[in-house]
Amino acid sequence: MTRRKLIAGNWKMNGLTGHLDEVRAISEGSRDGAIDIDILLCPPATLIRPISDMLSEGGHVQVGGQNCHKAEKGAHTGEVSAEMLRDAGATHVILGHSERRADHGEGNDTVRDKLAAAHRAGLVAVVCIGETLAQREAGETLTVLGDQLAGSLHDDVSPSDTVIAYEPVWAIGTGKTASPDDVAEVHKHLRQRLGERFGEERGQGFRLLYGGSVQPGNAAALMAVADVDGALVGGASLKAQDFLAICEAARNCR
Ligand code: 13P
Repeated sequence: MTRRKLIAGNWKMNGLTGHLDEVRAISEGSRDGAIDIDILLCPPATLIRPISDMLSEGGHVQVGGQNCHKAEKGAHTGEVSAEMLRDAGATHVILGHSERRADHGEGNDTVRDKLAAAHRAGLVAVVCIGETLAQREAGETLTVLGDQLAGSLHDDVSPSDTVIAYEPVWAIGTGKTASPDDVAEVHKHLRQRLGERFGEERGQGFRLLYGGSVQPGNAAALMAVADVDGALVGGASLKAQDFLAICEAARNCR
């Protein structure tokens, strides 16, 4: 089964309107290559509308949110619903990022509720899972990831509405990357777990991204790993040149 590669940028809490020039550069710089891979930018919520307006002119880069509330609307001050993201032009939303799991106490049940909300609104969700350094050193990596995967997904997910991102917590923003062998072991395990739960055919369809200090210099090696179907990129997605180099690496190993 061939799965189209997806390179997704997570800007986290970075980006003001002055940053739109980088988006323009990403859009223009990826115009040709984007026929071969999918490209997604997830800016802060304040920039979704201006970016989606800008991108709809060219049409090949998509835009997403970084979180949503499980409810459609209501008395939840400061929250944003999946429907609001969609209304602002988003097609995707990142859910269960380890920074949200750590900073906001989001557990698997919460992520699963948000996933249902994203699908209700017609968004594709990028569901993040990842082990801490302590869990890796204790030999718990595959168990922890298996539990997060099982708990964060509901039974009706499909490869067209859900993407999984493996982001080892210790590799995020640290410049440390999981080795291709470690990534291969994890992705193989995740693929197996998806097959067991959803059946071989559906399980094979899900895209599995790697995230955690992906840079132009290591992207080619990571993208070449079996069962790695793209990347979720933090810091390097803020610079058009770096992000485009990562897109190019993914394109070259389709
Ligand atoms: P970095 O690429 O900055 O390590 O961030 C990874 C990440 O958390 C993407 O969601």
